Amino acid sequence: MAGWIRFGTLLIVTSASTSEGAPPYRRAEATIEARVEDLLARMTLEEKLDQLHQCGTADLNPNNLASRADEFRATYGSYILGGSPTVLETRNGLQRRAVEESRLGVPAVFAADVIHGWRTILPIPLAQACSWDPVLVEAGAALAAAEASAHGIDWTFAPMLDHCVDPRWGRIAETFGESPWASSMFAAASVRGYQGEDPAERGRVASCLKHYVGYGASEGGRDYSFTDISRQALWEWHLPAFEAGVRAGAASVMSAFNDLSGIPTSANPYTLGTVLREQWGFDGVVVSDWNSVLQLVRQGFARDGADAAAAAIRAGVDVDMADGLYREHLAAHVSSGRIPMETIDDAVRRVLRLKFRLGLFERPYAERNHFTDTRPDTERGAVALALATRSIVLLRNDGTLPIGGDARIALIGPLATERAALLGSWAQYGQPDETATIAEAIERIGRGRVVVTSVTEGCPIIGDGEGKDFSAAVAAAVASDMVVLCLGEHAWMSGENASRASLSLAGDQLALARALLDIGRPVVLVLVSGRPLEIESIAPRCAAIVAAWQGGSKAAEALASILLGDANPSGRLAITWPRVTGQIPVHHGSRPRARGGDEGAYRDIEDSPLFPFGHGLSYTDFEHGPIRLSAAQTTLDGTIEARVLVRNAGARDGTETVLWMMQDPVARITRPAEVLRHFETAEISTGEAREFVFRIEPRVHLSYPDEEGRRLLDTGLVRLRVGRQVVEFEVVE
Ligand code: NOJ
Repeated sequence: MAGWIRFGTLLIVTSASTSEGAPPYRRAEATIEARVEDLLARMTLEEKLDQLHQCGTADLNPNNLASRADEFRATYGSYILGGSPTVLETRNGLQRRAVEESRLGVPAVFAADVIHGWRTILPIPLAQACSWDPVLVEAGAALAAAEASAHGIDWTFAPMLDHCVDPRWGRIAETFGESPWASSMFAAASVRGYQGEDPAERGRVASCLKHYVGYGASEGGRDYSFTDISRQALWEWHLPAFEAGVRAGAASVMSAFNDLSGIPTSANPYTLGTVLREQWGFDGVVVSDWNSVLQLVRQGFARDGADAAAAAIRAGVDVDMADGLYREHLAAHVSSGRIPMETIDDAVRRVLRLKFRLGLFERPYAERNHFTDTRPDTERGAVALALATRSIVLLRNDGTLPIGGDARIALIGPLATERAALLGSWAQYGQPDETATIAEAIERIGRGRVVVTSVTEGCPIIGDGEGKDFSAAVAAAVASDMVVLCLGEHAWMSGENASRASLSLAGDQLALARALLDIGRPVVLVLVSGRPLEIESIAPRCAAIVAAWQGGSKAAEALASILLGDANPSGRLAITWPRVTGQIPVHHGSRPRARGGDEGAYRDIEDSPLFPFGHGLSYTDFEHGPIRLSAAQTTLDGTIEARVLVRNAGARDGTETVLWMMQDPVARITRPAEVLRHFETAEISTGEAREFVFRIEPRVHLSYPDEEGRRLLDTGLVRLRVGRQVVEFEVVE
């Protein structure tokens, strides 16, 4: 129906009237499927293949757009953008060509790596997981979506759901930790945050579950490496978070770089076809990772680019990111009959469906709004601050923290004055110069309560200092009551292509720590990093140890508020913290060793991690009552309730997380030593108590996958642990 609306002095013609006489695919009132079919029927093969091409845009800006026009055909389906002051204009410029200069006017879709924020940078995902708060993680994703979408981004390549137990792998920073159960919860939360009810809503973006699948098992923690994963392990550890993301309605999935036991994941008919499409019914877009189609050649799976393109599209990769092999070779494959036209059409359908779903035909251009303002407002800062604060994990404390009482603090270490390092990798449009350093935040927030006597670098983050001269740092420490020692990594030392052979403190940092510990002043060690670091040799001598991770735009303020006691730490490790690099992999899900006690353990270190999965201290004392079960047994299809009363017996309000760990001692396929099956976080005021409840359904919480993903469930004894308490119940027929 034609119509118009008067809005102030503007006369807005409604979309119904514009679509009169237009082809069906242009009619907003038609169903998406009808529009897709109509448009597809009008497209030439060349236009279809352009839709399957995703193009990088390195160094593109509004000024060179016209001169580089040949690189960017108006019919290309999608583009990857990065954060820059002119990203919105660049995007709209490319879009104008797609809409106005292509024969059918199909809008392009614009993607970016919005991994932990766009302008307001949130903590890295590994840190976010340590908050154990999916609601907060969802709010973070929603903020990231709002900022990115205001800059013209329609589609984020997030959340990253890889399972990894090897912190040498740089991308462990991008994971939600080592529990597939927790990753599944954070996967769903992120998808909700990015997409909302409908990704077409203003301020939302389409999400992309990546990297499908098994990439986190990269051999030796080296990036882009072989991954040897049994089918059972694939179902147990690597697939669950993706399945959760698909069930949450994710619009897309990214196939990965890794060779999965001989069949690379960007050409793997089992993971892409049997599991994703057939078993999970996923009908969204599958996009390759950057050049992962071309890489099939290097991996020895395809003879050449033509072969690689055929293998990828046949396995189910719809969109070819960056390498252009689909455009180059698929037309010939269609004419020779190697690839049926129907395969191409199905892939194009999924791309068009995404564009209609995003409302791009009705609203192709991005518009500035308050999220494109130069400086994020306080509300945006508050989300980042809350997440950063909740992500910080207090690993050790002899009572030195929180700092108060006019303490005279020597702030030492190369991370005390860093800005970019706090943002972490993939910081996109994050602004280091708007990010406070740890020194600035402690001085500002602690003014009048503590005295910062000096700020001393001590040594650089990497590289050997000339003759290891720590005299300035030592003098600063001697002249103060205590040392806050900020050590760790540059942003670029973790993330993609940033694996490390060792988790040790780089450069002279360990030597600096030892020199300061030798003085005898209390040392509060603050670690800014994208992974756990090797600190076993100094940990027992530190008065306190804080894992601050890479906390984003508000990292320094969050840390200062915890050190100074304005906030009570509540983060818990979402990943096991190894003692030494050689202990990797060490994680809560290992299978029990064949012999008990310390038989088989390393002879040169203690047989435990430095800090276990779930570890984290508070400034208050939480007393856990006994775990109470509603019954001693349950049937396979029954339920049983477990409850634990937690009392805040300390002097401060605090936030407690209860992690429910389960152990199934005897099963048809051996089970991990423990698995996490439920978690809950709650604020508990001092003197108050809160009951945490876990409603156990054996089919959901105890069943486990076989090598085809079929769920098995056994009768028998089960152990349930919260903290140091363990109870047993029985599952019967
Ligand atoms: C390669 C990375 O592996 C992936 O995570 C990212 O989304 C793409 N590049 C696009 O930038």
